[in-house]
Amino acid sequence: MRAETVEHLRAPISGARLTLQPIEIAGDEVICGRLIEMGTGAWYRIEEGIADLAPHGFRNIDRHDAFCRRHGFEQGPVPAGNAVPDENAAMQIKFFSEHRDAYEIEVVASPFFGVLDRVTLGRWASRAIGKDMLVAEVGCGTGRQTLPLLRSGASLVCVDLSEDMLRLARRKALAEQPAGWADFVVGTAENLPLADGRFDVAVIFGSLHHFSDPPAALRKVAGIMKAGGRFYILENHKSPARFIFDWMMRRWMLWMEEPNEAPTAAQFLDWLGAGGLEARVRYSTYLPPHLFYLVKGRAADRLLVATDALFNAVPVLRRLGGVIIAEGVKRGLGRSGEGEHARTRRAFRLCSPAPTR
Ligand SMILES: C[S@@+](CC[C@H](N)C(=O)[O-])C[C@H]1O[C@@H](n2cnc3c(N)ncnc32)[C@H](O)[C@@H]1O
Repeated sequence: MRAETVEHLRAPISGARLTLQPIEIAGDEVICGRLIEMGTGAWYRIEEGIADLAPHGFRNIDRHDAFCRRHGFEQGPVPAGNAVPDENAAMQIKFFSEHRDAYEIEVVASPFFGVLDRVTLGRWASRAIGKDMLVAEVGCGTGRQTLPLLRSGASLVCVDLSEDMLRLARRKALAEQPAGWADFVVGTAENLPLADGRFDVAVIFGSLHHFSDPPAALRKVAGIMKAGGRFYILENHKSPARFIFDWMMRRWMLWMEEPNEAPTAAQFLDWLGAGGLEARVRYSTYLPPHLFYLVKGRAADRLLVATDALFNAVPVLRRLGGVIIAEGVKRGLGRSGEGEHARTRRAFRLCSPAPTR
């Protein structure tokens, strides 16, 4: 991670500032070192260029102990108000560590996700993200969206619960050498180790239904964004037609996962609204993903765009989409108060969430 990124990082529970103690530096990057919490002296490991800013109770004890032995450090104090993994978080860490390579083959390299990524976030990012922006990607996994976001030239701070997923993401980013730069941080969405009010853009792609507390995570994400900052969240949708997909997955399983229940549009909008995030919602993926294994290349892109446009245009059908996308802005509470809010709405042509509820 770059030394300059430290100013955007915070201790996960206390929100305290962190001081960098580098041990190994290569070019602009701190490969190995510590981040020390001001006030308490609790510290967090930086290894292979990745900072482990998960709450103390989420730590990979073996990696932390090995780091202490290698560099002759004491464990350090346990920060006050520590959080521990609940059953879901423990399962997510285990699942994504054990299935990282299968995820890469079944999901990242799958024909369906290739199309979905290009047609959704890919198109949005090319018009919404500029090279001077600071972007937070939460639940970035192995960097499936990180790489396209980086091609815009922006600076990214990417957070995920799984250090194993992040190690692969970082390797991929270094190998591609895109226009932008990404730093990878182990952390939880619910205790996001990022500084408030800093980020121009926030992205959560396909991860919310893995989090233990999605509303808490969205409040945190709203907190780290600047007023007027933009966000893009793509999530599974609890569609009335979901049983077709479930049935097809039993016949022809495309990928393995351990998801929690997908939200309805109403739930999703409530969660976003509680964080002060104004969203325009639309849906995607009306045809079972299985079809995109049969129709290839640009024809598949055209098929997804056409079916999305067709179904989204018909009010009774639009909510059958298997994927829900919320894009919008964080409400501005600047000096002009509601005036700024109204301008933001006009600038991004936000529609009222009401029709989808
Ligand atoms: C389905 S993967 C999506 C990864 C990536 N966005 C993509 O589209 O390929 C879900 C990711 O969420 C991460 N995750 C699960 N719970 C989390 C939490 N509470 N905080 C941060 N990341 C979490 C997992 O480790 C996993 O990498």
